[in-house]
Amino acid sequence: MNFTRIEIPKPARFVSTVVENHQLSSRYFLMVLSKPEGFPDPAPGSFLHMAVPTSGRFFLRRPFSIFDCNGETITLLIVEKGEGTRILRELGAGETVDFLGPLGEAFPLLPGQRILAVAGGVGLAPLYYYQKFVSRTLDKRVCPECYQLVYGGRSEEDLFLSAIDLADEGSLLATDDGSYGFRGNAAQLAEVELERNPVDALFSCGPTPMLKAVADLAVQAGIAHWVSLENRMACAVGACRSCVIPVSAKEQAGKDVKERYKTVCHDGPVFNANEVIWERLPEP
Ligand SMILES: Cc1cc2nc3c(=O)[nH]c(=O)nc-3n(C[C@H](O)[C@H](O)[C@H](O)COP(=O)(O)OP(=O)(O)OC[C@H]3O[C@@H](n4cnc5c(N)ncnc54)[C@H](O)[C@@H]3O)c2cc1C
Ligand code: FES
Repeated sequence: MNFTRIEIPKPARFVSTVVENHQLSSRYFLMVLSKPEGFPDPAPGSFLHMAVPTSGRFFLRRPFSIFDCNGETITLLIVEKGEGTRILRELGAGETVDFLGPLGEAFPLLPGQRILAVAGGVGLAPLYYYQKFVSRTLDKRVCPECYQLVYGGRSEEDLFLSAIDLADEGSLLATDDGSYGFRGNAAQLAEVELERNPVDALFSCGPTPMLKAVADLAVQAGIAHWVSLENRMACAVGACRSCVIPVSAKEQAGKDVKERYKTVCHDGPVFNANEVIWERLPEP
């Protein structure tokens, strides 16, 4: 398939301040940060590696995909999971944060191709930003109307309908409990949508079982699939190898290699799903 890689700006370390932490539901919040001077326009799929601001108690930074970025702010969509995300949620306006970014490879541009993007939970962030990015770049090679987003949450409160205009923007919505939209997960809704409207490629980001289901859909339909993975990370710059995944070694024809490893932080987080060895993917 004909695709174009989006140029990735050089990452750096930045210090910024919280503009607001906006609670969207019992588990999710939007963290809006002021865009520091010199922070480059991030590509969709890029992430920030954020320090948890507590006098050295948290050694490891936490990775978060960019949900939106404009001239003044960077926005992250975060689900409160453990202590790190709880501390980040409790930060007030004006408090300082320190992050590395933008990091990682982006979803590609597919000139003239129709894309179905399948997002589950916080997997919404990079795929929502892709839609914004494409419509803002005014790039004649891609058409924003060729991009259909499918998003699934546990229940209606995880769709953030009062805060984010997903339905008004034409996204297809699913809930596990059927409290809004399609009853089922985003991959199940994508399967129904694919039968109605065939596309040229799938994008996906979300829980691993959902990603595997989307990978099966792509194989059945014989179409391309790019996936964003979320592995546990330490350095996030390709040095420590704690985030590696096994990938098919087909690309290394002629060499005596059966499989090899790629880092999710530096070679990914976006991969061509064909090269991922799904049955050996570590659970995040
Ligand atoms: C490329 C990438 C993009 C991500 N984007 C988002 C996003 O947009 N929004 C969001 O809410 N979450 C995102 N995550 C997951 C997020 O990083 C974790 O939920 C978060 O680090 C949990 O931290 P904690 O201290 O609250 O949880 P704890 O469970 O206490 O974390 C303990 C350790 O495990 C790591 N960890 C735990 N869960 C994950 C996970 N699922 N993925 C990676 N590391 C994990 C933490 O970084 C930390 O080092 C992303 C992860 C990756 C790799
Ligand atoms: S986290 Fe260190 S190599 Fe990816």
